[in-house]
Amino acid sequence: MQIFGVDIGGSGIKGAPVDLGRGDLAEERHKVLTPHPATPDAVADGVKQVVDHFGWTGPVGLTFPGVVTGGSTVRTAANVDKGWIDTDARALFGERLGGLPVTVVNDADAAGIAEMAFGAGRDRQGTVILLTFGTGIGSALFVDGVLVPNTELGHLELNGHDAEKKASSKAKEDGDLSWEHWARRVRKYLAHVEMLFSPELFIIGGGVSRKSQKFLHYIEGIKAEIVPAQLQNNAGIVGAAMRAAKD
Ligand code: BGC
Repeated sequence: MQIFGVDIGGSGIKGAPVDLGRGDLAEERHKVLTPHPATPDAVADGVKQVVDHFGWTGPVGLTFPGVVTGGSTVRTAANVDKGWIDTDARALFGERLGGLPVTVVNDADAAGIAEMAFGAGRDRQGTVILLTFGTGIGSALFVDGVLVPNTELGHLELNGHDAEKKASSKAKEDGDLSWEHWARRVRKYLAHVEMLFSPELFIIGGGVSRKSQKFLHYIEGIKAEIVPAQLQNNAGIVGAAMRAAKD
């Protein structure tokens, strides 16, 4: 069975039909640039371009980088246009896509759903936390494989600051931090999350998951196992489609 998955990110809107049995893209993904400002209307146009590229006419799952309740309503927009807050994203995208059934899910939750089924979290019981390091820090918390949605652990306080402002990969780039310097911040952040949840496993996602050999060895003193995500770029697309399959 196939469902279309779309990942709405800060730089690109990427999508492809997803083969749910394999947990992988059924065709090469198509990407358009995220409009700036990324208002709901402008993003909906981008999503339509991506879906139309494949002539897709079935259900669509989309990620969003903020709290999304009930597969539908956006509640927060830390790094995107504030016009998203309280938007009924299911209605917006559904209408723009000519009435296709639509489900919207937090981006980190989507990545986590895919990693738990097909990647680094496969067959893992107990408490597993996936953290995505990108423009912000996203989180997905699983207990015995069941997602607790919208945990937003990127906004925990770290040294008096919103943690993602100090430990995201954007913070590394903006501050021109070395891997070691940035990893020290990530270590402190993970120690805080560990204090709260005592997970068995941390999965490190986002673009940095491909560069784990550059920084994971600096992260010491954490009791939980720490592994890089395996699905990398396509986790959001696959997870969004998997979530849509449940609606
Ligand atoms: C948002 C989260 C999102 C994360 C990664 C944070 O700023 O609040 O909802 O998952 O960024 O995009």
